[in-house]
Amino acid sequence: MIKREIEKIIKDCSGEDGKVEKPISEHGDYASSVAFDIAKKEKRNPNQIAEELKDKIKSELFEKVEVKGGFLNFFIAEDALKKEISLILEQKEEYGRGNKEKTVVVDYSSPNIAKPFGIGHLRSTIIGQAIYNIYNFWGWKTIGVNHLGDWGTQYGKIICQIKKENLDPEKLSIKELEAVYVRFHKEADEDPEIEKEGREWFHKLERGDEEAVRMWEICRKKSIEEFNKIYQKLGVAIDHTTGESFYQDKIQAVIDEAVEKKVAVESEGALVVHFQDMPSVIIQKSDESTTYLARDLSAVKYRLETFSPDLFIYEVGAEQTLYMKQLFATVEKLGWAKKEQFVHMAHGLFRLKDGKLSTRKGKTIHLEEVLSLAEEKAKKIIEDSLSSDLTEQEKEKISETVAMGAVKYNGLKSHHRRDVVFDWDRVLALKGDSGPYLQYTCVRCKRVLEKAGEGDFSETEKFNENERKLALRLVEFKEVVEVAGETFSPNIIADYAHRLAKDFNLLYEGTKIVGSKKRIVLTKATKNVLTTSLSLLTVSLPDKM
Ligand code: ARG
Repeated sequence: MIKREIEKIIKDCSGEDGKVEKPISEHGDYASSVAFDIAKKEKRNPNQIAEELKDKIKSELFEKVEVKGGFLNFFIAEDALKKEISLILEQKEEYGRGNKEKTVVVDYSSPNIAKPFGIGHLRSTIIGQAIYNIYNFWGWKTIGVNHLGDWGTQYGKIICQIKKENLDPEKLSIKELEAVYVRFHKEADEDPEIEKEGREWFHKLERGDEEAVRMWEICRKKSIEEFNKIYQKLGVAIDHTTGESFYQDKIQAVIDEAVEKKVAVESEGALVVHFQDMPSVIIQKSDESTTYLARDLSAVKYRLETFSPDLFIYEVGAEQTLYMKQLFATVEKLGWAKKEQFVHMAHGLFRLKDGKLSTRKGKTIHLEEVLSLAEEKAKKIIEDSLSSDLTEQEKEKISETVAMGAVKYNGLKSHHRRDVVFDWDRVLALKGDSGPYLQYTCVRCKRVLEKAGEGDFSETEKFNENERKLALRLVEFKEVVEVAGETFSPNIIADYAHRLAKDFNLLYEGTKIVGSKKRIVLTKATKNVLTTSLSLLTVSLPDKM
């Protein structure tokens, strides 16, 4: 990693932790302002200090080092670039893989059962999967958990309504189950007794009542079948589906421990955790039913005992920020782990711009509809642009890959904290900052290489401007993976992939690849690094495009 290497060289020569930046324009490939830091301390002229440092720097990494206005500007030697790019070809999809020997548990997706997979959980699913992939590639042992929302009062309420309407749960679709829940609430709004009945059914469920458990199991099974279809479409596979209900028999021990350690105290019949700087939170209700927090605490304990992770990542919506803080603080109060071992990747809202999709205003938008609409749109574009000798099945497959690539990339390209506007035209555009543009670039590399023959760096002619730009981009990859991991920002990979594709296309559109050995190498390296980047984003590639 060039940046690290330069930082080390600066440290060796000056004893300072000098900052290294990538300047825009002609001030070298990398630059450092370390001379200013030293100048401040020693009350000397920064330019003079930079000149002294420059004389000390002896590394084959640089073609030259320049001093300008106190800055040190580094120009990477072409041979160093070529060496690293040769490594990309050698190591192929392994290039850039790290070796951290640490363990992380990533809690993501985690939809709630008995209602369709909403678009809100899409963000958690794709961002969570991307951060999982990045940590895995970075060399961490990664454990993905789908903390399915499959326990809580709402399931008592659904059972209550099913009973009241004398329905057969086996015959109800997920959408109908959601409607059952809505009807319960309508009735409960008019008659508070009904609310109580719902709670009683949850009580029965918690106590293992046969009928309640049977109905709950049906709801759960149906939901999981439905969710799996979506995961399959998205190419997402979560290691463990251990939902909230899994901790049912483990909660009492946690509550006892919390009481014994005086972390939870009684308040009006309930058990509550107090904080100095946050509102209190309930761990057990006054009717003795357990809470979301109690189940999350049990989950932390279980994960600590089962996986001994160094780090916990929760990819959960920003609306749960306070709750997550309360959870992490409670874990620390219990003495199980340090708050610093917990990260909440709080994603913003998914908003829709397209008029057509907001006709269901006020209701949740079902992901299934969004995905099939994306496929339809992709198919139309593909039908208009691809040659007709493709079979219907091939077209189907390509449309799905392109549509999913578009949806996923769109959900990953902005920082997860930001709200995302879902704009069909932008999502399915073949140009600009879109998933299909990156897939297209990869396929383009592949196609060129099929007829290009072998490449190498034996030619003596130096890189031209576009080649050099692409080469520098390629060798940036390892650094990008680390920064994305360290800052929990999959968008950094997305942004990098986009820049890489742009740099390649600039070269491609300006010169012929075939016939130039060095350009063939650059194309191969681009194909490798771009494919890896996209796989980190769970974006797969169509055969043709
Ligand atoms: N099921 C929850 C929801 O939809 C998300 C769960 C997140 N994970 C967790 N361990 N609390 O809001």
